[in-house]
Amino acid sequence: MPKVAFLKVPIAFLLLLAGASEFEASPDEAPRSTVTAEAVERYQASIRARMAGADALPDKADDEWTSSDSLRKDLIGLVGGVSENATALEVGSYFGYTTRILSHLFKRVIALDAVPELLQANRDYNYDRDNILYIRFHTTDHDWGIFNLNSIQVVFLDASHDFETVMQDIDNCLRIPTVSLIIFDDYGAEEGVRRAVQQFVSAGRLRPVALLGEGAEGPWRLRDGREVKEREAIACEVLRR
Ligand SMILES: C[S@@+](CC[C@H](N)C(=O)[O-])C[C@H]1O[C@@H](n2cnc3c(N)ncnc32)[C@H](O)[C@@H]1O
Ligand SMILES: *[C@@H]1O[C@H](CO)[C@@H](O)[C@H](O)[C@H]1NC(C)=O
Repeated sequence: MPKVAFLKVPIAFLLLLAGASEFEASPDEAPRSTVTAEAVERYQASIRARMAGADALPDKADDEWTSSDSLRKDLIGLVGGVSENATALEVGSYFGYTTRILSHLFKRVIALDAVPELLQANRDYNYDRDNILYIRFHTTDHDWGIFNLNSIQVVFLDASHDFETVMQDIDNCLRIPTVSLIIFDDYGAEEGVRRAVQQFVSAGRLRPVALLGEGAEGPWRLRDGREVKEREAIACEVLRR
């Protein structure tokens, strides 16, 4: 039964995307959101594999927008065993690949994205998980105050990667009183993320606790061939005065 309900929507979603070679979110929603046709094919293939019994997620080498297998492994090492009663907020959840890992590690996951079609795809991808709440949320247009009365311990920040937006997003994450750990994806690959994190570290508001993912053995390469010297992601503890 659930399979039928689950299949109906992705097909509608994929048909919607099939019309265009690239799906672009409307500019006022998420200016930098472009989902490639190839990424949609990956998503489809991953769902097909799941239905055939496998549960392998696409790696960063397959879809540059998601996290690597190595980052997921490190994430499990970092919070596994201590996060089972905690809530994670995933800011920028895309097709739901990392949401899936978080939903196994945490008691609850709140998955945010500016693009409703992606939240729908995430929900379909994770149809068998029952601890994920999906919220259409744009980090610079919408009110972060809606999270303040919830108990959220960990944030996985992976939405816009430009310096100004990341600065604002970090500031907003720090205003959620219960947040104690923020994980920054694309720390290595995106200069904007790195600079923003470093500013908060210098200001004594964040303290790095672990480097995660690709790059443990020296420089690594993105799918497009670009060499990255820094580690893929960083986890920082929140320092509160
Ligand atoms: C790199 S992808 C996230 C990948 C995902 N966390 C994973 O590991 O598979 C970035 C996502 O953030 C969304 N996004 C970009 N800017 C945003 C913003 N300012 N507010 C909310 N969502 C945003 C995009 O629509 C996209 O789905
Ligand atoms: C989670 O909560 C349960 C029930 O209160 C408790 O037994 C368990 O030790 C908690 N786990 C952690 C990691 O705190």
